[in-house]
Amino acid sequence: MTLDPRATVYVETYGCQMNVSDSELILGKLAAEGYRPVDVPEEADVILLNTCAIRDHAEQRVIGRLGELKRSMRAGSVMGVAGCMAQRLGPELLTKARHVSLVVGPDGYRALPELLARARGGERAVQTSFDLEEHYEDFAPRRFDKVKAWIPVQRGCDYRCTYCIVPFTRGAERSRAMADVVREARQVVEEGIGEITLLGQTVNSYNDGTHDFAELLRAVGAVPGVRRLRFTSPHPNDFSDAVIEAMGDVGAVCEHVHLPMQSGSTAMLKRMLRRYSREEYLECVARLRARIPGIGLTTDVIVGFPGETDDEFEETLSAVREIGFDDAFTFKFSPRDGTPATRMPPEWTIPDEVAAERLGRLIDVVRSGARSRNLGLLGQRREVLVEKPARRGDLLQARSRDYKTVLIPGDASMVGSYLTVELTGTTGSTFTGTVVQERRSLPVAV
Ligand code: 5AD
Ligand code: SF4
Repeated sequence: MTLDPRATVYVETYGCQMNVSDSELILGKLAAEGYRPVDVPEEADVILLNTCAIRDHAEQRVIGRLGELKRSMRAGSVMGVAGCMAQRLGPELLTKARHVSLVVGPDGYRALPELLARARGGERAVQTSFDLEEHYEDFAPRRFDKVKAWIPVQRGCDYRCTYCIVPFTRGAERSRAMADVVREARQVVEEGIGEITLLGQTVNSYNDGTHDFAELLRAVGAVPGVRRLRFTSPHPNDFSDAVIEAMGDVGAVCEHVHLPMQSGSTAMLKRMLRRYSREEYLECVARLRARIPGIGLTTDVIVGFPGETDDEFEETLSAVREIGFDDAFTFKFSPRDGTPATRMPPEWTIPDEVAAERLGRLIDVVRSGARSRNLGLLGQRREVLVEKPARRGDLLQARSRDYKTVLIPGDASMVGSYLTVELTGTTGSTFTGTVVQERRSLPVAV
């Protein structure tokens, strides 16, 4: 038996899809440098946590995990922290966790081989400078998923929502050249993947200096073999008529939008510096629904933001009811150091019990709305892409174009196939379905 002499690397990812995509780039880069990716930390010479800073809870999880992983380290192995928390805390992380010897922010992955060499040589290496040119264009991502692909099209964020740490952790907004995105879409198709999700912090504000997001959708949608095209997350203000028109025109663009609302109260939205009113958000939804009938809508909502009155919270509930979201991610406001929200008058602070109670009520409203919508869909047919074996036994998890999760019977060989299913049952949030038509080419009539 020959022993593999190459150093091994284990990466664990927290947070949003942008981080998943960044981890794919990190692993691609390190694999190209001779590192061998492994699936368990115990086998790794390098353990990297790609982290999130969006809420305190996300950071606490990482701190806990760092402690746990300490026990998995072997002699000579190196522990590194990448991503948004690394960017936010920088060298402070080295004192928070003594066994960490590498800290690298989202724009520093090009330097990883060198930083790792230093860390493995016994130094403690930190790299947290922004690089506004950086898109990792020459990195070959090592994709985790075999049926759908993330393609980053924009990094950073130029909005300044008063609660949000992202402008601090990911820097200013910049867009990749459209030709590079299209080239990556072609590669993805060559790898046998037909579903693409374009990623950006406010993805529909994409502009590479020559092309806007509407043109990008048309260009990627025109790549032969791109069967499904999604994007996340858009900002309501960047849904120009041209973007909505392109969504309606381009066959591959899926009938689903994740459209963060944050609050249904204009006064709250103002304090959040979201730059739209309740009415403007509703109008954006109406424009999307008019052009793409039946479009699935999901959202993000924050409760307990400073100064949120009972009436303002009620406005959020009424907006959620009125719009009828298919699902929502709901969050208690978490103060992030350095953001404008932390400088609001202390008397605006919402006590945790109030925020918790509001969160509970919001979740009930979201669930009951989703449930009645989903019950109304029973009996309908959907094209689904089989994504992976479901957690539950012998079922497969599949996804419709309008972003419904459908569990269907079948075996792992069906992963990656597109099938037509009938929605036969719902838990209120996910569906069960039966396959009514397997996607084969139809026999030619003679
Ligand atoms: N506290 C709570 N939720 C937040 N989000 C962003 N920042 C915060 C914060 N400080 C939520 C928003 C955003 C989602 C990704 O996370 O709803 O859309
Ligand atoms: Fe993603 Fe924002 Fe979390 Fe960074 S802070 S990982 S950009 S969600």
